[in-house]
Order: sequence, then C-alpha cells, then structure tokens
Amino acid sequence: MKVCVLPGDGIGPEIVAEAVRVLKSLDLNKLELEEGLIGGGAVDATGTPYPEATKKLTAEADAILLGAVGGPKWDVLARELRPERGLLGIRKDLGLFANLRPAILYPELANASTLKPEVVSGLDILIVRELTGDIYFGQPRGIREENGERVGFNTMVYSESEIRRIGHVAFQAAQKRNKKLCSVDKMNVLETTQLWRDVMIEIAHDYPDVELSHMLVDNAAMQLVKAPKQFDVMVTGNMFGDILSDEASMLTGSIGMLPSASLDANNKGMYEPSHGSAPDIAGQGVANPLATILSVAMLLRYTFGLEEQALRVENAVKKVLAQGYRTGDIYERGTTKVGTKEMGDAVLAALA
Ligand code: IPM
Ligand code: MG
Repeated sequence: MKVCVLPGDGIGPEIVAEAVRVLKSLDLNKLELEEGLIGGGAVDATGTPYPEATKKLTAEADAILLGAVGGPKWDVLARELRPERGLLGIRKDLGLFANLRPAILYPELANASTLKPEVVSGLDILIVRELTGDIYFGQPRGIREENGERVGFNTMVYSESEIRRIGHVAFQAAQKRNKKLCSVDKMNVLETTQLWRDVMIEIAHDYPDVELSHMLVDNAAMQLVKAPKQFDVMVTGNMFGDILSDEASMLTGSIGMLPSASLDANNKGMYEPSHGSAPDIAGQGVANPLATILSVAMLLRYTFGLEEQALRVENAVKKVLAQGYRTGDIYERGTTKVGTKEMGDAVLAALA
C-alpha cells in the first residue's frame, strides 16, 4: 500500500500533516508513505512544478494524497511553470479521468451554509467530473497575432470513448446511491456536448435501474442554489464540473469540508481536498483539515477497498462536529473554535 504524499503550497502542508496523522493512526501494516514536491514549492526547489523525482513517486504509488498547489507568488511565471501545471500533469500522466466530488451537508453545519437550512438540510450530492479532457487539454490552444491584434483560443473537444468511460463511472456510482443521474451539458449551443448527451443516452440502456435526466449547465447552476436536493449524482465535463463543484461545495457550509478522489480505470487514485491553497491563511494553523482527512477516507475506500476503515474516519469526523469543534470557516457562536492541529487531535481522539 504505497501512498505518495504531496503537501504542496499554502495551507497544503498543514492540512496534509493532520491527514497523515489520521492515516498512520489506523495501523495499516502494509502502509508505506513517501513525500514529494509539487507545485510552487517544487518550482522554487527544482525549477519545475512537477519534477522527475515526483513523477517517479506518483507512477510507483497506488495512491497519492495531495494538499493544494498555487499562490500569488507563482502567478507571474510562464504558463508551463505554474503550480497548477503540476496538478494537471499528474491527472493527465496517470489518466485520472474520473473525479468524484461528494457534497454532503453534516446536520451540525446547516447554519454554516449561506443558504437557508431547509434548502440544504440533508443534502447529499455526488458530482462526477471528467478530469483529463475537454477545453482543459484540447489542442490547438494559445494566444496569437491576427490582423494586428491578439487572439486567444482554446479547443473544447471530447471523443466518444472519453464520454463513455466517465458515463459508466457515473451510472455505476448512481446504482450504489439513489439511482438518479443528471447529466449536465450545453447541447443547445455546443456540438461537443451534443455528443456528450447522445452518448449518455446510449449507455443508459446498460443501466435500466438508473433514472437518467439532462440539464443545461446554466440551469444546473441555478437549480443547485434553488433546489439542490433534487440531485443525487451529477455527471459533467471537466470545465463545467470545475465550476459546479465549487458552487456545490458552498451548499455544505464550507469548501473546507469537501474531499475528492480522482481515479483511473484500475482505482489508482489521487485524493485531495476540493479547495485550493488559501494563501491568505497559510502558515497560521487555522485552516480546516477535514476535507483532507475525508479525502483519506476516500483513499481507503476507492484504492484499497477498506470500507470499514473509511467509515471509521468518516464517523470520527461526524463525532468531532457533534462535539462542537469548529475551525474558523465553519465556526458559529456556541461552538468551540479550534486550529488545524487541534482539529486533527480531536479526530484522532474520536478514532481511538
Ligand atoms: C480544481 C482546481 C483546479 C482545476 C486548478 C487548481 C487547476 O480548481 O481541482 O477544481 O481547475 O481543475
Ligand atoms: Mg476548481
């Protein structure tokens, strides 16, 4: 059980340290951890956001636990040297095409959401985002001179096979949940997403027990804040999934609570919180480590098939919330405000 640990930038090292403590406390006897550089820290140390040594580690690992990458310090660099390139490089190199982003509202956090408690209480959505295609990776791309002015261009492209494999992941996820799948596209304007819809309808025949619906992305963005509980599993492309998953995260009170898994066809995976590196609070010991700790639960479940251990971690998180421990992002009056490490301590105590 080889896990490559990539703490990354900003709050990454702080939150990953707590998640690693949780992972180690489970006494999994074959667990091997190896740490590597990624993102801005890697640029500073080696001149590239995804160094060869890290490529070797990620290639050899069964799972990768990543904190976050990026920060204003590196935004001025050429595009191929930006920290984000490290993250996109891992996703593409390892073929981690299936990104699972669950948005669950813990009852204790109903008031932390900016939406009315009755709109979000009981919320449990899974967003399945395609992660290695679409306009993120499409060629050609660039900025060029045309008729005396600069023109920027990207290519939105999906092959049938790319749509089909993410579709199967989504249908199978829906089968394990409430058997409702909503596919999100923009078929009224974009041909790539017309193909997306056609392929989803084709593969639906393999899953007669799952109810498939379709929604245009602009409407989906609206429905997520209007009536989010209508959704069970949502499946969409890389770009729309990036946007909708941030939106969904805020339904749950804080993006600091959302884990994610990015899987290949053999359940090798990278696990990371859905949030970013939060440079504004980095180094202060106040960041919420729960999204990263919940990512460890996903790692145990999806890569190692350790459902029981995954549930133990998730239940420990539920317990600390019930005990009233809150980091700043989810704090409200009457609860106990704690820092990153104290939250980690509380989870460890709940696990013991
Ligand atoms: C995410 C992030 C990344 C993305 C960035 C950091 C490249 O926003 O994982 O959602 O756009 O995919
Ligand atoms: Mg994003």
